[in-house]
Amino acid sequence: MHNDIDHVLLDEGTILRRLDGMARDITRDYEGRMPTIVCILHGGIILMADLLRRVELPLLIETISVSSYHGGVESSGVITFHQKGLPDLKGKHVILLDDILDTGRTLAAISRRFTEEAGAASVKLCVLLRKVKDRACAVEADYVGFDIGDEFVVGYGLDYQGQYRNLPYIGVLKPEAISRLA
Ligand code: IMP
Ligand code: MG
Repeated sequence: MHNDIDHVLLDEGTILRRLDGMARDITRDYEGRMPTIVCILHGGIILMADLLRRVELPLLIETISVSSYHGGVESSGVITFHQKGLPDLKGKHVILLDDILDTGRTLAAISRRFTEEAGAASVKLCVLLRKVKDRACAVEADYVGFDIGDEFVVGYGLDYQGQYRNLPYIGVLKPEAISRLA
């Protein structure tokens, strides 16, 4: 697994130190309230586990399963919701957690449905990574771990063909690993 990585972009210690700061911001912003954290599967799971253990608030956890990549290294532009209903979010203050903000389509589609259909009182967006690029959808994240360049990365929840999510760091794949699994 590690042999497929060309170089590490963010090591584990760097990520965890940043999570301390993000968790402090969330704890401060939601003081006196009980936010509902909605983790976007599967990419958000590692971030959720590490970030939420640092947040010092009562909170609720929900998950939502969507896909936009369908296996490749480019967003397909189509967001597929894998379950029929939405979590019960009526009047709730929601923090939507995802691994990465890329084109913005995923977070735009989900936050629109949470507000318009599920009746959430507020929806904020939290991502570990934000790609610096022009986005297809104008989406602003409220909590961001790191800005990165517009390149394909894996690890810490992010996958290629379903693999590499359990790498404890964020790295860039070797071209031969990409073509081997394509
Ligand atoms: P968006 O809808 O284009 O913003 O894409 C969001 C989803 O695409 C993320 O939740 C990831 O699952 C996936 N994604 C975007 N960039 C990368 C990447 O560099 N590596 C792995 N997955 C990515
Ligand atoms: Mg994802």
